[in-house]
Amino acid sequence: MTETVIPGEQAAPAAQAPEAPPTRHLIGLLLGAEEDWPTAFEQVLGLVGPIRTDDGLTHEVTSERLTIEPFDLRQPVRTGLVIDRLAYWYYHPREWLKKAALVNGTYLLNSPFTFQSMEKHSAYCAMIRLGLKVPTTILVPYKNPVDNVRWAYTSARYNRPFDLKAIANELGYPLYMKPFDGGGWRGVSRINDEQDLERAYDQSGEMLMHLQATVDYEHFARALSIGPETMVMDFRPDQPMHQRYAVSYDFLTPKAGKQAAAISRIVNAFFGWEFNSAEMLVTGDDVYPIDYANACPDVAVTSLHYYFPWAIKALVRWSVYCIVTGRRPRVDLETHRYFEVADRADLTDDEKLDAYLALADAYLDRDAYFAWCARHLGHLDEAVLEWVQSDAFDKLLRDTVQATYPAHEQDQFMAHFGGLVSLWVGDEKARLGAR
Ligand SMILES: Nc1ncnc2c1ncn2[C@@H]1O[C@H](COP(=O)(O)OP(=O)(O)OP(=O)(O)O)[C@@H](O)[C@H]1O
Ligand SMILES: [Mg+2]
Repeated sequence: MTETVIPGEQAAPAAQAPEAPPTRHLIGLLLGAEEDWPTAFEQVLGLVGPIRTDDGLTHEVTSERLTIEPFDLRQPVRTGLVIDRLAYWYYHPREWLKKAALVNGTYLLNSPFTFQSMEKHSAYCAMIRLGLKVPTTILVPYKNPVDNVRWAYTSARYNRPFDLKAIANELGYPLYMKPFDGGGWRGVSRINDEQDLERAYDQSGEMLMHLQATVDYEHFARALSIGPETMVMDFRPDQPMHQRYAVSYDFLTPKAGKQAAAISRIVNAFFGWEFNSAEMLVTGDDVYPIDYANACPDVAVTSLHYYFPWAIKALVRWSVYCIVTGRRPRVDLETHRYFEVADRADLTDDEKLDAYLALADAYLDRDAYFAWCARHLGHLDEAVLEWVQSDAFDKLLRDTVQATYPAHEQDQFMAHFGGLVSLWVGDEKARLGAR
């Protein structure tokens, strides 16, 4: 804007222009039973401080735990961004989130539109369409009739009898039977023979089930993605919760490691998910995705331990980036962009993966995000390192251990998690020192 100077008057020096008041942003946390990661999130967000952007504005970001109450569909929403942990389980918060997305343009981690409608089954379908190695998977009709008065007629007329045993034989034993939209091991069985098959199908009742070929794997990799950040972890599903994530570096071949991280972000970007954990079975260079829809996954300090500071920092960094830069939420997915790559005959599988990843990283603003974090959140690494060594973190860990384990096991678990967190502190010091 040009300045008009009236003759005889002096233009006010620019330095004396009153500073604009800070722009305040509020992050909403829609929480369930957990206490540890929300407390950690609040404490790390407190370390961010005011952010001065290139336009001269100052931004302050705080958070608030949201409560469930009646709402008017036209009511404004005070929080610019919401991290949701409830919508998967309960209708009321889910419907509030949908209203916030459609009426108020609230930024959501994650959007219930895509998470509710795109469960495990849809993620398999998308990955098959993109040419990824999903194990052979068959969807079978319900064992018990669904609760609908018209079903008896429909079923008698159109439900074709089928031979479950023949399908299982074709897949080969052992195989897995699990709900098409599953999570938390609900209804999952490993089927070794025809007796198991019959029993599991009888018990499935009104759950809709997949039969899936078993993958013999060397490593179970779990990739946690938060925005454009991904951590690929060595997961041992047969271990008790506190030992499931092993701290191991480079446990996959470079090629498999690259694919594991890439597929995780590709599926997230494909469906517009931004806080999700992906599970895959890995043998050599081959990556077999088996579960790609775990919205707002478990990030408890008692399961992630070593990886907990990274996860909370990434959640803070991505939320702050989205809310301060005004990143727009999107409900449309434009999946054709991925399918156009899938249909190209001139590309190898590796080239397709690179092309999908380029689309995903563009959607997730990956380059801009890391550059922005380096410029505006550069102090956070040191601050989080100090916080993890502080009394506040020790209290958080102690409170969580006391809430999770019986009294006689608490010392043992404090030592266990304390040791793993110290390991992270050592590695992080080395990383920051080497920078
Ligand atoms: N195709 C498969 N081959 C080998 N193992 C499998 C296969 N599918 C599932 N499993 C095993 O069964 C477990 C549960 O499967 P899955 O992740 O699909 O179900 P879930 O209900 O999402 O469970 P969770 O919440 O533990 O992730 C896996 O962690 C894995 O150990
Ligand atoms: Mg799973």
